[in-house]
Amino acid sequence: MHILLLGKNGQVGWELQRALAPLGKVTALGREQTELCGDLSCPEALARTVRALKPNVIVNAAAYTAVDKAETEQALAQQVNAASVAVLAKEAAALGAWLVHYSTDYVFNGTGSTPWTEQDAPHPLNHYGATKLAGEQAILAHCPQHLIFRTSWVYAARGSNFAKTMLRLAQERSELNVINDQVGAPTSAELVADVTAHALRMALRQPALAGVYHLAAQGETSWHGYAGFVFEQARSSGVEFALQTCLPISSEQWPVPATRPLNSRLGCSKLEAAFDLALPHWQQGVTRMLTEILEQTH
Ligand SMILES: NC(=O)c1ccc[n+]([C@@H]2O[C@H](COP(=O)([O-])OP(=O)(O)OC[C@H]3O[C@@H](n4cnc5c(N)ncnc54)[C@H](OP(=O)(O)O)[C@@H]3O)[C@@H](O)[C@H]2O)c1
Repeated sequence: MHILLLGKNGQVGWELQRALAPLGKVTALGREQTELCGDLSCPEALARTVRALKPNVIVNAAAYTAVDKAETEQALAQQVNAASVAVLAKEAAALGAWLVHYSTDYVFNGTGSTPWTEQDAPHPLNHYGATKLAGEQAILAHCPQHLIFRTSWVYAARGSNFAKTMLRLAQERSELNVINDQVGAPTSAELVADVTAHALRMALRQPALAGVYHLAAQGETSWHGYAGFVFEQARSSGVEFALQTCLPISSEQWPVPATRPLNSRLGCSKLEAAFDLALPHWQQGVTRMLTEILEQTH
């Protein structure tokens, strides 16, 4: 088994390097220029790399993920998230390989308050979401052996994340405003990677499992609720804050270039049933990540 992993240095890509290792040989590429090309802004070199390596599986964790910047860098976001994904889909199909890919809750428009299912019609509100949807559609059109996981609010202990930013701000400021009307489930890159490895192993034996799946931790919260949980956990571990008040605000009170969906709930029962999984509650992974980062800073 030879797996080509793209986006090896991202949150999910980093965890995939670990989770995919027991499945076989993993060639992991980032954006750096070597004789192999893992840069999704260079589709011809990318295609040549796939043809040279002839992997059995391509796992694409690379993406243009700067949601606000995508509103102005539209062509680059489209190239990385859609056009090059189409190239990967065609090259994978030509090899008879599987393509594993990640998409987002941002393909939906955020109306209502029930979790989105895989049958619901996507309707992105921002350019990032539109490019991610176009990437999905290219895979569906060109590569029958695919697993597309739509996930949400991804975090990892490595690098920067929302919880770390909140911890820093709570030490610097007495008052914070945090958005309270966007609801979803913080999902760890570890969980995404571990579920990917498990699902891929099963799909390789049962090709009928190919499809689009929602993959997020259980439960739901707002960014304000998420921040509150982080503060509570940190305080119970003895961390002291300057923070006195954390005020809930609406998305309208925090204008940003890209409109976000209010309802980012992803219903994951299709994934759980197909791959015999029970996804953990979001607080479990956040507690684990906080334990790791608080241990490093004390
Ligand atoms: N983060 C979230 O909250 C979230 C939510 C829903 C879905 N997703 C999806 O989940 C997947 C993984 O996201 P993530 O959280 O791991 O994102 P991430 O941490 O931002 O990682 C993305 C990776 O893609 C790489 N990349 C950017 N442009 C590239 C290019 N032109 N060619 C090759 N690589 C490029 C980045 O490289 P550098 O390290 O060099 O910048 C980075 O390593 C993506 O498909 C994303 O759309 C993420």
